[in-house]
Amino acid sequence: MDSLLYLFLVFLVGGFVACGGQEVSFDQNYEDGWGGPRVLHLNQGKEIQLSMDNSSGSGFRSKMNYASGFFHMRIRVPGRDSAGVVTAYYMSSQDNQHDELDFEFLGNREGKPYALQTNIYAGGRGDREQRIRLWFDPTADFHNYRILWNQHQIVFYVDSIPIRVHKNKSNLGGGYPSKPMQILTSLWNGESWATDGGREKINWTYAPFQAHFQGFDVRGCHVTGPGMEHCYSDRYGWNRQKFWQLAPEKQRLYENVKRTYMTYDYCNDKSRPPAHPVECE
Ligand SMILES: *[C@@H]1O[C@H](CO)[C@@H](O)[C@H](O)[C@H]1NC(C)=O
Ligand SMILES: *[C@@H]1O[C@H](CO)[C@@H](O)[C@H](O)[C@H]1NC(C)=O
Ligand SMILES: *[C@@H]1O[C@H](CO)[C@@H](O)[C@H](O)[C@H]1NC(C)=O
Repeated sequence: MDSLLYLFLVFLVGGFVACGGQEVSFDQNYEDGWGGPRVLHLNQGKEIQLSMDNSSGSGFRSKMNYASGFFHMRIRVPGRDSAGVVTAYYMSSQDNQHDELDFEFLGNREGKPYALQTNIYAGGRGDREQRIRLWFDPTADFHNYRILWNQHQIVFYVDSIPIRVHKNKSNLGGGYPSKPMQILTSLWNGESWATDGGREKINWTYAPFQAHFQGFDVRGCHVTGPGMEHCYSDRYGWNRQKFWQLAPEKQRLYENVKRTYMTYDYCNDKSRPPAHPVECE
């Protein structure tokens, strides 16, 4: 009897947890962006498919702007031959001197691995690319891609592994995003640059290309008026001291990613000014 009751409770709690978080429908926080019918709502709005054909790509975006948070999106990128096709999950302030945080999956010829590029713009200046190869096939399954953003650091994660840390060194002249940003996704034609420096073009035989997205709950502080100070409050878990730097075990994982999987890092690119970006020290 006791064990039956226990099973029942496990079932109840499990069901409750499963209904939270992940199950928020798209319309609650997001809206279609561009590409018209190429933004397809699946499974009662719990999954979105973006398509790109030879006349257009597509995208969607959050309804709100945010100024801190621990954002996430579950993504499965287009399979088969995806050279020149870019799947992006990013945040942007979309003004003249814009701030931006990017995940960009750079498609590749069939059988060759995707590169995952990240970039950070502050005050209109980007040129902060890093690229890694992934330790799994991102076309086979959904994986969780996350961005932590507080006043102290911005961390990009693949599942629970940090792949990039950008510290706030604005007091030393380093660039750091400081404006409310919208969350965006897109599937677009990047054949001029994305694959092998633009040498590998899109093979339209494989169109339409399709990317899939899930997980439309947003852990972020949204901004409606001019002020964003309230988004720095430690009322929000992601602003608390334990998120000001990586925990030691996460630091070890991050160092392993840099050592093993990083294929390009602007911090070490001597051909590109400035020679020693402050935030890389
Ligand atoms: C675009 O794709 C459609 C459907 O595959 C095809 O009929 C059309 O000819 C293509 N257009 C161009 C400009 O390649
Ligand atoms: C960056 O850090 C400084 C303190 O060094 C802080 O005053 C500022 O608000 C932070 N900037 C952002 C955009 O979080
Ligand atoms: C595109 O893919 C098709 C099917 O694999 C192949 O026959 C064709 O040669 C490819 N086109 C280009 C330009 O590579």
